[in-house]
Amino acid sequence: MDLGHFAQLFTAEYGRPPRIFSAPGRVNLIGDHTDYNDGFALPIAIDRRTYVAASERTDRVLSVRSVDLDDRATIELDRVPSPQHGWRAYVEGVARTVIARNPTVPGADLLVASEVPIGAGLSSSAALEMAVALALTSLGAGAMSAMDLALAAQAAEHTFVGTRCGIMDQLAAAFGRSDRALLLDCRSLAITEVPCALSEAVIVVCDTGVRHELASSAYNERRRECESSVALLRSRRADIRALRDVAWSEIEAAGNLLAEPLRRRCRHVISENERTLAAAEALSSGDLVLFGELMSASHRSLQADYEVSSIELDCCVEAAIATPGVYGARMTGGGFGGCAIALVAATAADRLAVHVDRAFFERFGRHPGIFSVRASEGMKEHS
Ligand code: GLA
Repeated sequence: MDLGHFAQLFTAEYGRPPRIFSAPGRVNLIGDHTDYNDGFALPIAIDRRTYVAASERTDRVLSVRSVDLDDRATIELDRVPSPQHGWRAYVEGVARTVIARNPTVPGADLLVASEVPIGAGLSSSAALEMAVALALTSLGAGAMSAMDLALAAQAAEHTFVGTRCGIMDQLAAAFGRSDRALLLDCRSLAITEVPCALSEAVIVVCDTGVRHELASSAYNERRRECESSVALLRSRRADIRALRDVAWSEIEAAGNLLAEPLRRRCRHVISENERTLAAAEALSSGDLVLFGELMSASHRSLQADYEVSSIELDCCVEAAIATPGVYGARMTGGGFGGCAIALVAATAADRLAVHVDRAFFERFGRHPGIFSVRASEGMKEHS
């Protein structure tokens, strides 16, 4: 992003210079659909960011313009919110949620531009939320911690957008570090940095281009299935709070207490937590072979047991895994479209791109987006 040009755009629009903030998208290396089960995830913040140029106003209005979507929103903070959709719901939701917790936040003019592909499963929404949250609180007088901003953004998504998401995306956007993956304990909210300075390997993203409209309702349905499973399992052991607390042997011992698909949903979550912890260790010790195997096993589990993959994602993953030099591949994020990722030896990255592109084009008659990402820093103000 050319920040000088971005600042000039703002000044031309609003007549004064802005402060500039940004937050990154994320790729989850492993540990999907575990965060809302109090489990573990291992995301990196990526080197594609959403930028917000901001300047304080004297009234109680947020005037927001999206450069990419060529769209505008005016939010009157003292009025009752009316229902919003798309990017406006994220901006209004996070603004109102942050202001409810920090009344020093003033009205503001905001200009938004993003390098994170929208709706591709790389958390363009959390990047937007966190960049707006950081901008607004920085304009205000009362500081809020990065953790409180992440929790506010998650709450905004629940209340204003209607997706009952976990906390992974917001934590990745807030706390990302260059050359580090973040092992998230989504119960305690403890974050352990895991070295991810891959010198001889590359993380490659394959964007299927599929943007599933029902992703949010299907996502909420999965979450409900997990909650129903917990409610049933509690009849046998009252101290179970989430699937995090359940061992697979307990589900087996429970006989047919859990009917399908609940049993398979639980098998995914329980095994994914184990894989994620093992993967964090493998990454720390530089064992990319084991890490890749765990990634591919995670994909099979998301595909067969959790049923959140798609034919396009499976096509990318299969073509990637069949490429010599690839350690492993999987869908990343919520699923139902979006992106797959592969961990590949740097020398084989071009070959991987050719293979995946060819397989995808033969099957679907169009090209996927293919690009590499690096572990990058979380939200910040640009000086
Ligand atoms: C979406 C949600 C996250 C997480 C992932 C799946 O990205 O926003 O909270 O649940 O799906 O791991």
